[in-house]
Amino acid sequence: MKALVLRENGQLQVETVEKPQLGANQALVKISFAALNHRDEWIRQGQYAKIQIPSILGSDGSGIVESVSNESDSNWVGKEVIINPNQGWGDNPKAQAKTYNILGMPSQGTLAEYVVVDIDRLRQIPHHLNLEQSAALPLGGVTAFNVTFNKAKVKPHQNILISGVGGGVAQFAFLFSVAAGANVYATSSKADVIEKCKTLGAKGGCSYKDEVALKSMAKEIGGFDAIIDSACGDGMNLLLSLLKPTGSFAFYGATRGLPKDLNMRNIFWNHLQILGSTMGSDQDFVNMVGFVEQYKIQPIIDTSFSLDNAVGAFDRMKNGEQFGKIIVKI
Ligand SMILES: NC(=O)c1ccc[n+]([C@@H]2O[C@H](COP(=O)([O-])OP(=O)(O)OC[C@H]3O[C@@H](n4cnc5c(N)ncnc54)[C@H](OP(=O)(O)O)[C@@H]3O)[C@@H](O)[C@H]2O)c1
Repeated sequence: MKALVLRENGQLQVETVEKPQLGANQALVKISFAALNHRDEWIRQGQYAKIQIPSILGSDGSGIVESVSNESDSNWVGKEVIINPNQGWGDNPKAQAKTYNILGMPSQGTLAEYVVVDIDRLRQIPHHLNLEQSAALPLGGVTAFNVTFNKAKVKPHQNILISGVGGGVAQFAFLFSVAAGANVYATSSKADVIEKCKTLGAKGGCSYKDEVALKSMAKEIGGFDAIIDSACGDGMNLLLSLLKPTGSFAFYGATRGLPKDLNMRNIFWNHLQILGSTMGSDQDFVNMVGFVEQYKIQPIIDTSFSLDNAVGAFDRMKNGEQFGKIIVKI
């Protein structure tokens, strides 16, 4: 089969490799579409723990089940599915086990014509979405669901700020918060992304680089109940200053690294909550797909690349050019 293989020094190349073989309680899925997450780009750049070379990346995928190992699972054959990229989340619904890992390094990922996964990783694609839209959903969707509803606890009529809304996860946090009936505001480096968000239900927005605009947006509405972020870095103090007393700063990444000086006085005096988050349990994954179906959420798709041009997809993510998910058609 054809696959995008990661070699030394972040080299990605399309190669012919052996088709994976079914093990116990597994399914062989013919991949139709994969989608990128920043994780894939961090791995290409060598900025991820325990990188194995060679490997086939890709945590998001949709496709058609070609075969299963157990006769009792044969009802899956021919079904259009997405794959839950969680592997071994464990018993604690609130945090993953030490042995937890994510589809796509160390195990073979979705940037290939076929992938083998445990049968309990499969979900049928949402009724209102096609295979391409569905491929956008798994990792970004479950991460956004966890941070939005379990951590930030977004509720109707609350003032919510989604920071860096152009990101693959952030767009889902945005869409989910709008669907939940919150007053949603967004920041982005791109003015056209803010304008697009307004057509999708944002009450307002501005650049995260414009401190004056950010402060005046927050002041006008009396502050935010929660901010959802994945950048952190030195912008964190400014964001924390925009929260109402008892407000929450919920984050699932630290693209901009550590903040140099965190204003601890602001945090304790205003009873602020800083909440770390990562993908989400298998139950969160099921709940996320249910939420997407209930509210007919349409994932925002940025661009589609062919497998042969998949390096261009990685470069687009590296340069932060996207709004929404970058898809690779297999
Ligand atoms: N913990 C987890 O389970 C988990 C899961 C998924 C992702 N993550 C992490 O979360 C981050 C985002 O992942 P992703 O897949 O959504 O990546 P992505 O699609 O590449 O999105 C990154 C976005 O970050 C935004 N950004 C850049 N600088 C910013 C700043 N100073 N302030 C606010 N936003 C800024 C940009 O938004 P604009 O385009 O709007 O400017 C950009 O689109 C990565 O660090 C990733 O590793 C963690």
